[in-house]
Amino acid sequence: MCGIIGYTGQQDAKEVLTEGLRQLEYRGYDSAGIAFLTDDGIKTIKSVGKVECLCDKVKKESDDATTCGIGHTRWATHGGVTDTNCHPHSAGKVTLIHNGIIENYKELQKEFEAKGIHPVSQTDSEIAAMVINDCYDGDPIKAIRSATKRLEGAYAFCIMFEDHPDVIYAIRNGSPLVAAATDEGSVIASDMVALIKYSKDYFVLPEHHIARLTKDGIVVINENHVAIDPPMLHVNWDVAAAKKGGYDYFMLKEIHEQPEAIRNTITPRTKDGLPYLEDDGVPDTIFDGINRIVITGCGTAMHAGLVGKNMLEHLIRIPVSVEIASEFRYSNPILDPHTLVITISQSGETADTKAALELANKCGCKTLSIVNAKGTSIARESDYVLYTHAGPEIAVASTKAYTVQLSVLYLFAFRFALVRGCISEQEARDYMKKLHATIDDITTVLTYDTQIQSISERLKHSEDLFFIGRGLDYALSCEGSIKLKEISYIHSEAYAAGELKHGTISLITDNVPVIALATQRNVLAKTLSNVVEVRSRGAMVILITNADTQVDASLCDHMITLPKMDDAFTPFASAVVLQYIAYYAAISRGLNVDQPRNLAKSVTVE
Ligand code: F6R
Repeated sequence: MCGIIGYTGQQDAKEVLTEGLRQLEYRGYDSAGIAFLTDDGIKTIKSVGKVECLCDKVKKESDDATTCGIGHTRWATHGGVTDTNCHPHSAGKVTLIHNGIIENYKELQKEFEAKGIHPVSQTDSEIAAMVINDCYDGDPIKAIRSATKRLEGAYAFCIMFEDHPDVIYAIRNGSPLVAAATDEGSVIASDMVALIKYSKDYFVLPEHHIARLTKDGIVVINENHVAIDPPMLHVNWDVAAAKKGGYDYFMLKEIHEQPEAIRNTITPRTKDGLPYLEDDGVPDTIFDGINRIVITGCGTAMHAGLVGKNMLEHLIRIPVSVEIASEFRYSNPILDPHTLVITISQSGETADTKAALELANKCGCKTLSIVNAKGTSIARESDYVLYTHAGPEIAVASTKAYTVQLSVLYLFAFRFALVRGCISEQEARDYMKKLHATIDDITTVLTYDTQIQSISERLKHSEDLFFIGRGLDYALSCEGSIKLKEISYIHSEAYAAGELKHGTISLITDNVPVIALATQRNVLAKTLSNVVEVRSRGAMVILITNADTQVDASLCDHMITLPKMDDAFTPFASAVVLQYIAYYAAISRGLNVDQPRNLAKSVTVE
């Protein structure tokens, strides 16, 4: 989704801004622009296409020296992908960049048009600039306060005022902004990846507070006009972690980072071999009175919930439902203080997941979030948070975030079951051992790359594909399918294998690929009979099995055998196989794996 960077300090601002925008490219965007202060006032340069196109344009159009400016990567929502619609937008003395959506922009636009003032772009963001300019009488803070009273919707703004050189103002409502002051100047961005080059210490701009950035530091002013010190946060990864490190794509690097990510996530939460959450501020009293769990999230995060449900219900025997956040938030759900709502999000900023959490908080539920990006909205707004320690995930397709989410869900389930007396200490230790063993299992599966690459070549010309499985394998099918379609653009569907006969099997004809997951012993025979059914209708079957089950390889065209592992833990290894299949299928089609068309890494609007 759109990216924001702002800088004022000693360094060349054009350089800082374009470098920041490069770091933000992973979020997904279709155009980019910067505005910077020159001796002749604020200059704006914008371009449709990649940040490199913008850089070429900047080189051609400006040799001004500048040390203050704002930059933006746009992912079009209001108005097409054009230079004019690209940010920054200006109105009078105001130039700004904006993430989010101004919901009442049409009404505001009409008000301006009635006065004969017309925007040049089709964007809601330009209307926001017009409103701020309309409120401006020389006092930026007063103008921002009055303007935001007129704006409805979500926003993160970085604003320059022509007659306040070298100063950047920022405010946010819903959309994220993080900032850091260093000896070299002050920098603000929509996410930490753009800041890390300058500082590992940063703060999240609190909602509705105004940040005033100058060369000498950042002042944060609350709604009562009092300067406050927001809590500082620290990241323990560095610039290298946000680079490709020799891999062709971030996605491949992140697939390979999974053993370490899981280790970093579960080791600090293992004490004396038992699951332990006290250091995270998650006391055992969180389980008191809970008779139901709702897990919510979007896309891959929601799919992690499907796997978590299985383990939670199996151990604790209370109902767990998994809800798509964008549906849940409008479904008038039945919630009460005995419901624990678990929200899962890599970015911690997904708009629908955040709204689902707000609803759960409003209904008096206990809320726990599983989040990768520290200090983000979803983490802050939950009663409890369990951070995953996957480091930055840059590729749009989520990989390591998914497996660490599984690891936290499992660990949480073990703790819950232990505290409730559903399992003994010895059983909890055994479960924890198996969880730690997934690190080695994943390491083994990572060596399957050549085999999976050659199998995935066979998908190069496919247009449709089916994933089938039962139980946990169905949950993994959902994840395999989203991964494949988002980066290879092959249409695919995940089907509960037993449901095939009720419609889908009519689509199975000669050479249609079917990826069948058959790792679960309790339904193995059933799934294999579904494999026979599709194969006898001409399907090309890729079968994923568990080494223990000794499936006859002649049942399928290609077999991928996971290491020997307990059925309940196969999702960790299956996930890696499915990630590889998606990755190599996309590579065989010559696609840019890290930045699939139309997709954004962090979906901060509805
Ligand atoms: C798929 C993918 C998305 C995200 C979804 C939620 O590979 O990355 O489906 O999982 O947009 O994002 P977060 O986890 O940031 O809330």
